[in-house]
Amino acid sequence: MSKTAILEIDGKKYEFPVIVGTENEVAIDIEKLRGATGAITLDPGYKNSGSCKSEITFLDGEEGILRYRGYSIEDLADKADFLEVAYLLIFGELPNQAQLDKFENDIRKHTLVNEEMKSILEGFPKTAHPMGVLSSLTSALTAFNPKSVNVENEKEMYDAVCKTMGKFLVIATWTYRRRMGFPLNYYDNTKGYVENFMRLMFEIPTQPYKMDQKIVDALDKLFILHADHEQNCSTSTVRIVGSSHAGLFASISAGVSALWGPLHGGANQAVLEMLEEINNNGGDVAKYVLKAKDKDDPFRLMGFGHRVYKNFDPRATIIKKAADDVLDALGVDDPLLDIAKQLEKVALEDEYFKSRNLYPNVDFYSGIIYRAMGIPVEMFTVLFAIGRLPGWIAQWKEMRTNKEPIGRPRQVYTGSPSRSFKEVNQR
Ligand code: CMC
Repeated sequence: MSKTAILEIDGKKYEFPVIVGTENEVAIDIEKLRGATGAITLDPGYKNSGSCKSEITFLDGEEGILRYRGYSIEDLADKADFLEVAYLLIFGELPNQAQLDKFENDIRKHTLVNEEMKSILEGFPKTAHPMGVLSSLTSALTAFNPKSVNVENEKEMYDAVCKTMGKFLVIATWTYRRRMGFPLNYYDNTKGYVENFMRLMFEIPTQPYKMDQKIVDALDKLFILHADHEQNCSTSTVRIVGSSHAGLFASISAGVSALWGPLHGGANQAVLEMLEEINNNGGDVAKYVLKAKDKDDPFRLMGFGHRVYKNFDPRATIIKKAADDVLDALGVDDPLLDIAKQLEKVALEDEYFKSRNLYPNVDFYSGIIYRAMGIPVEMFTVLFAIGRLPGWIAQWKEMRTNKEPIGRPRQVYTGSPSRSFKEVNQR
């Protein structure tokens, strides 16, 4: 039996359909609200508003569940590799071996970035943050790939996916090479995607590069954990920019900018800087917990809290274990890991954090692993972006193939009522 919701305004009742998702999430469909009542809803930060129906990712913040296309994040992180997960997110099903091989090969066809992109990169000061550079370079790719993809055409869409996956990885690493003054590297089509990331970043012409398989495996897992997270800030940005029929590169460039903020993906850099600060100031964890609780102090415990997870972040559970394993395997003894564990313990026992359901999120331990791998802190959010790329593509593709309307929220105007213009000499 279909349910409805009744809304009463000024004594008049209106009925709206109630939609139930696969996992029994309930939503009131208010598409006809304004037409029927003249009213709109007000929901700053969209805490209660669904912007779309989506078949890609399910998450249950109360139970700490995250699934891509129905598969648990725990299974995928354990058993799949990043390109398999990318394929799953973007095309809806896990690939068979032939499809996976083809996908990897087709990405390889697009790993050469136009040489003229280098002059754009050189225009940035070396001190520029890699996320700002990455957003600009992604946008610049539009200039070299001006044909906008016809989403109705399966082959064109598939090629656009492979092109984006191939070129984005390369330009992401170039942001670091530029910063370091290293010559820019090319993708090696005989090697895997994640292995290429390490080579592109760290291989220098003067000495052979020794790949550490433990690092590649851990990085692959981290990319999987970051690959999608339904309608978060950057993904919603990608969808809304794409909803104006802006191209894939332009939409992803906007997603990179949204991800950069410290309340979103930028938190992984902020966490590490916070842990370093605590360490440099004598490791007084309790002092920082007090600061985070002080309403007069803008300081927040970075890596704690989540808009949706109100119990635990399943990604953080996997990453915490991975941090132990990776540091062990690499033989790294990092005092920041001890500080992170102390901070987590104190915060989890503290009433302030308990009552607000503030738990470590995905960004809390990831930075410690990246650091152990030798990844510089300003590249942490770039790694998040590389991991999130398949999610952005999948969500963009879904939005366009579902022919969603242009995203255009309304507002409640609270400014001045109408007034007459005064000439400048009368003001
Ligand atoms: N430290 C101290 N207090 C906090 C924190 C924190 N990290 N996070 C939330 N609070 C408090 C906040 O002050 C508020 O208290 P009160 O009710 O007394 O005013 C209450 O908890 C609710 O906070 P909110 O800001 O209304 O919650 P939100 O859902 O709008 O924000 C969040 C979620 C992730 C932006 C926020 O928890 C935060 O700023 N965390 C730190 C940054 C961070 O780690 N971000 C990464 C998020 S996960 C990965 C990703 O999305 O990229």
